[in-house]
Amino acid sequence: MEKLTGLRKIKTAVFISGTGSNLKNLIKFSKTKKSPIVIDLIISNTALAKGLRYADQFNIKKKVFNFKNNKINNNNILIYLKKNQIEFICLAGFMKILSSSFIKKFNGKIINIHPSLLPRYKGLNTHERAIKNKDKFAGCSVHYVSAKLDSGRIIMQKKIRINAKDTLISLSKKVLKKEHQLYPDSILKIFN
Ligand code: GAR
Repeated sequence: MEKLTGLRKIKTAVFISGTGSNLKNLIKFSKTKKSPIVIDLIISNTALAKGLRYADQFNIKKKVFNFKNNKINNNNILIYLKKNQIEFICLAGFMKILSSSFIKKFNGKIINIHPSLLPRYKGLNTHERAIKNKDKFAGCSVHYVSAKLDSGRIIMQKKIRINAKDTLISLSKKVLKKEHQLYPDSILKIFN
């Protein structure tokens, strides 16, 4: 990844599908002096994503792409990103799969946050599975996006202990809090 001179911030798009707490956290981070990125665009696969309100709140451009026809849509997104001179993509609770040709075009420039200690628990329902398996630890990972789901190179992880009293809700909350530290830390690690 390009080394920064401190003069220019990397033009970044954040992709979301839901609440957008990671998006909000990344926007706040992007406004700090130490942030190597500036968030210029928010993309969602659904107009119902609550996180889209942060586009209005923070005056950031937003766009919804319908994923019914995956291939065509991925192409439309690529064209749109190019038009907006986007150089870097952060997936933050984005629940659709990007085509391999899309990923190739942005090779090494798409990262994702996942609520587990990868390679453990790729895919969905990570906390349910960790509790069911009586794991001692849970956590979150930030990784590069490759064509294979949740399998790209890991950039950073944070680990937390699962207590006997933990429920799905308490564990989700604890992990999400860690995610909010991990995503900015990972971006700093990539660009510094
Ligand atoms: C986060 O826990 C994120 O790790 C997860 O969705 C949540 C989104 O929360 N992502 C995935 O499961 C991706 N496979 P947020 O909308 O509040 O940021």
